[in-house]
Amino acid sequence: MSDLQKVASLSEIPAGQMKAVEIDGEQVLICNVEGSLYAVSDVCSHDYALLSDGELNGKEVTCPLHGARFDVTNGKALCLPAVKPIETFKVETRDQDVFVGADE
Ligand code: FES
Repeated sequence: MSDLQKVASLSEIPAGQMKAVEIDGEQVLICNVEGSLYAVSDVCSHDYALLSDGELNGKEVTCPLHGARFDVTNGKALCLPAVKPIETFKVETRDQDVFVGADE
């Protein structure tokens, strides 16, 4: 993934919600934390599970498989069994469109 790509409309991701998208074969999760958007990998760093099947509470997403939690604002693993962070991506809104690209 390189340049920013349009992946969603702002109205599809209201505050407290998340949306899974695929960009260049990569599974990306966009989260709306109190009106600010963050994009992280949708795949848990522990084993294979999609975080979009879990729950978003504030800035923490919980993996549906073994319950690891990640901070979606920086990708950090907050509890076991995950120890590695998940990748973060750059996210921007232009008018009502949401764009995601590789983080710098
Ligand atoms: S796969 Fe996510 S915590 Fe195990």
